[in-house]
Amino acid sequence: MKARISEKFRTLFGHDGDFFASAGRINLIGEHTDYNGGYVFPGAIDKGIMAEIELNGSDRVHAYSLDLDEYVEFGLKEEDAPSQSWARYIFGVCREIIKRGGQIGGFNTVFAGDVPLGAGMSSSAALESTFAFALNFLYDLGIDKFELARIGQATEHNYCGVKCGIMDQFASIFGRKGNLMRLDCKTMEYKYYPFDPKGYRLVLLDSVVKHELASSAYNKRRESCERAAAAIRHNHPEVEFLRDARKEWLEEVRTVISEEDYRRAEYVIGEVQRVLDVCDALERGDYETVGKKMYETHYGMSRLYEVSCEELDFLNDIAKECGVTGSRVMGGGFGGCTINLVKNELHDEFIARAIEAFKEKFGHEPKVYDVVISDGARKLE
Ligand code: GLA
Repeated sequence: MKARISEKFRTLFGHDGDFFASAGRINLIGEHTDYNGGYVFPGAIDKGIMAEIELNGSDRVHAYSLDLDEYVEFGLKEEDAPSQSWARYIFGVCREIIKRGGQIGGFNTVFAGDVPLGAGMSSSAALESTFAFALNFLYDLGIDKFELARIGQATEHNYCGVKCGIMDQFASIFGRKGNLMRLDCKTMEYKYYPFDPKGYRLVLLDSVVKHELASSAYNKRRESCERAAAAIRHNHPEVEFLRDARKEWLEEVRTVISEEDYRRAEYVIGEVQRVLDVCDALERGDYETVGKKMYETHYGMSRLYEVSCEELDFLNDIAKECGVTGSRVMGGGFGGCTINLVKNELHDEFIARAIEAFKEKFGHEPKVYDVVISDGARKLE
């Protein structure tokens, strides 16, 4: 990928720039908890975005997407927003840096990626993090890592219409090879967990479906959670986020909020606790419990939070039938992947059966990705 980027960069701009990269992510457990102030447990992966960048001394950005074979130029003022969605991510990062007082100018860039799009591995966070990290480095802005993650998150909010939490950008900025990270999204305390489950593998099964309107459905989930938290706050003023609420407190407002908001909140309160249970289990090397919690998450995401879909439920059922230790829909939902914790000896049989059964039912094969936990945003030599 580096050689292809470099060749194109020379053709377009006549010389060489610096190389930067960042990563997509997986999440072992803790889904839709981040914007509720809860815990998440992600790690960066070996699939990401790579960009060559050089400052060009003007006030314009010249950007080329190698994968889409598309060239876009834009300025750095609010009214200069490009219409191409990939370019809006880069533009948004620039704007968010400028809003924070960062003095940046134009640059030339060519970039490419290998995070499967729409698979729930957060290719967009990888793109945002690459450019936030690179501009911070090239302009020596001194922005700390959390703020770099927030710049990516604010890009999603303000330029891409997704009111996401911080997990994806956190993972792609802070990711460290071989480690998952537990992040408390309220206090922003985090801890690295070396992750090397002896005898097991983590594998992703990508349904290769992405349902329309995923971002508006995502925003609606967030609103449900905020309404439920506000109702609970009436009785318990200490509840800032749903994460602070106890199940009994949710029961107190059951008749006040809608049945739908109740189900959403029930899922979130359970999920926050599941992350903590999984951390305890990992410390004991108890992967059976980790897996059991993953199935519970799937059930909650499917029946209570309603962000799964037929294809993902099907993949989850097959995992269960095959005796896979843990399986669940990963990421925002509405398509994308399941993440599976599989015993080594079961791996090949499970994958073969899943591919065959899925193809028979849906007419196409799911894609299979082995998870390799890798470094996040960085400068390449
Ligand atoms: C998307 C969002 C994250 C998070 C997950 C669900 O990936 O970008 O902030 O909410 O969905 O856990």
